[in-house]
Amino acid sequence: MSPILETERLILRVPQQADFDAGWAEFHGDVECMRYLNGAMPRSIAWRTLAQVVGMWPLRGFGTFSIIEKETGRWVGRSGPWEPEGWPAREVGWMLHRSAWGKGYATEAASAGIRFAFEELGWPSVAHMIHPDNVGSQAVAQRIGSRMLEMVSLPPPMDAAGPTQMWGQSADDWRAAQSSSSGAARSAASKS
Ligand SMILES: CC(C)(COP(=O)(O)OP(=O)(O)OC[C@H]1O[C@@H](n2cnc3c(N)ncnc32)[C@H](O)[C@@H]1OP(=O)(O)O)[C@@H](O)C(=O)NCCC(=O)NCCS
Repeated sequence: MSPILETERLILRVPQQADFDAGWAEFHGDVECMRYLNGAMPRSIAWRTLAQVVGMWPLRGFGTFSIIEKETGRWVGRSGPWEPEGWPAREVGWMLHRSAWGKGYATEAASAGIRFAFEELGWPSVAHMIHPDNVGSQAVAQRIGSRMLEMVSLPPPMDAAGPTQMWGQSADDWRAAQSSSSGAARSAASKS
């Protein structure tokens, strides 16, 4: 399964080797980007992470996408479904290269990832594991309609920072929000 998702400004596709030097290694080696994700990685571990992310696609039938900026073709991050062994719930996550923060890309990619999880994978709900101090990521979760659910423990080696927040939403809530926002858009269009 190699789906490609398209949003207004982004393409989401399965990661590939060329992504490694196009931004993947730099992102995973950046102390600021990895502050709430168990810390910066040397290139050797960043490559293993790429192999793990690509490997989830054939193993699980889904996985995280690379995010490509349409305008430039550059790699700007990773986002999408994620469920390693022992994970508390099926996740849709987001990680953006520092040069791509502050543009709404995480929210745009996460929204596409959630749609994919609900409409293509048929998940009944999605979760997002977020460090209690990662307010930027909590804001993304809020913008896509998720709410804080409970504190959870992650499996090793991701348990080093202690318990983490689990945010999320159900497919039913997502569908209700979609139909009320498209109803609001129809009503605004009919008034103009
Ligand atoms: C968490 C993270 C994805 C948040 O990135 P972000 O750029 O703040 O989030 P978004 O992509 O939703 O962008 C929202 C910001 O873009 C701004 N923005 C600019 N143009 C925009 C547009 N056209 N549409 C929407 N928002 C836009 C918004 O105003 C907002 O800025 P603000 O927070 O200053 O108000 C990012 O900090 C990151 O990747 N961190 C490292 C990895 C990480 O921690 N991932 C999460 C793990 S749980």
